[in-house]
Amino acid sequence: MNDNLHQLRCIGCGARLAGSEAQPDFRCAQCGELFEVEYPGWSQRQGPDRPNAGALKWLWRERRSSSETLDHSGVWRFRELLPILESFGNVVTLFEGNTPLYHLPRAAKALGIDQLFAKHQGMNPTGSFKDTGMTAAMSVAKERGFEWVACASTGNTSAAMAAYAARAGLRCLVLIPDGKIAWGKLSQAMDYGALTCQLKADFDGCLTLLTQIVKEAPIYLLNSVNPYRLEGQKTPAFEIAEAFDWSVPDHLIVPGGNLGNSSALGKGFRELHDLGLVARMPKISVIQAAGANPLVRSFLNHQGTALEPVEAHTRATAIRIGNPASWRKAARVIQDTGGWCLDVTEAEIAIAKAEIGAEGLGCEPASAVTLAGLKKLRAEGKIASNETVVLLLTGHTLKDADYTIDFHRGTLLKPEETVGKEAEIARLRRNAQAVEATPAAVLAALKGSVG
Ligand code: F0G
Repeated sequence: MNDNLHQLRCIGCGARLAGSEAQPDFRCAQCGELFEVEYPGWSQRQGPDRPNAGALKWLWRERRSSSETLDHSGVWRFRELLPILESFGNVVTLFEGNTPLYHLPRAAKALGIDQLFAKHQGMNPTGSFKDTGMTAAMSVAKERGFEWVACASTGNTSAAMAAYAARAGLRCLVLIPDGKIAWGKLSQAMDYGALTCQLKADFDGCLTLLTQIVKEAPIYLLNSVNPYRLEGQKTPAFEIAEAFDWSVPDHLIVPGGNLGNSSALGKGFRELHDLGLVARMPKISVIQAAGANPLVRSFLNHQGTALEPVEAHTRATAIRIGNPASWRKAARVIQDTGGWCLDVTEAEIAIAKAEIGAEGLGCEPASAVTLAGLKKLRAEGKIASNETVVLLLTGHTLKDADYTIDFHRGTLLKPEETVGKEAEIARLRRNAQAVEATPAAVLAALKGSVG
């Protein structure tokens, strides 16, 4: 690892360590808080030593047409801003990143916003935003000579970790909550060859257990407490800034679970700003499911300075997390950028997911909290019609096909959850119909749907 160019800084007490000195659980030995990667050289680069912003922007764009392996990755294309490896020869990549930024014309019209976009991280190689973080942290694991890597997961981290471990030739251990992850994700971990343990515990219990295990065995922890994960996950911020020709959008809306992603994106925009590559930061808002909303409660009850864990319940299983590890980092991002933290109900999530589907994009339930949250922010007058808004869609629609089918069949939500929203839901539902195998019957179905 490149201990010369980067170091780890504790976000609690400010202690600094060389990257190779971190404890296996990535917690500070003094105060128990998490670390973040810091590049000491950057703060000293004033005046003529400051990186040439124009040259970097040109180089990053130029790499999109390069045939070099590293340049194919939307993470390593920006490698000047994540100098965490001793040798780029250790990079483990599946050509992640470079994900599409889509316009959402129907939702924009309905909400009265001119410029509404979705950055679709579900279009990554394993179908979620986790790939951008996994390429970074898996490369560190490989460079440091680990044979085993591990994570606790609500599904997507395990899918990404298993794929990247297979590419790196490493073994991997997955701890998942029994019965509470989507089949698509579990099938990926199996397919990519992980040792998968389903535990009678929730995500928070799985992570606590794994934290004990890594202290007893030489296993590299790949949850987002690992600060190198966030170095990869900050790069969509660079892609978004690049897509807007380096004048950033007004607002970025992100789902909140373990809160690593919102922390990473905030770090990405902060670094662009500090290095003079963009003139300002977007407001970053974090949306949680109402049944798994510890950060929302933290802001309501403690202005984001303390967090009480909750028992989490939501059908958006990816964000069914009651004790998020990175809450302090995420709270700081929201406060620093002037964003908001709010929660949305199960019906609001289901409706927003169907609306994103109807745009021809689709996403998994956890991603849809972003659109549901935007609707609330608009209704509360917190986002003006002339603001540019980007929703961060974190997972592919095929990750949780059961949820989608249940919604369209009308079996997802209980009647008491849909009160006042029945018409909206009926308008969006598209259940498959049993139709006789004759032209007349199919034409009748067509007529029925047009009329
Ligand atoms: N969206 C999806 C699709 C996710 O899988 C996750 C987290 C999040 C949002 C929340 O991101 O945790 O960084 O705040 N999934 C983790 C997992 C916990 O194990 O796959 P976060």
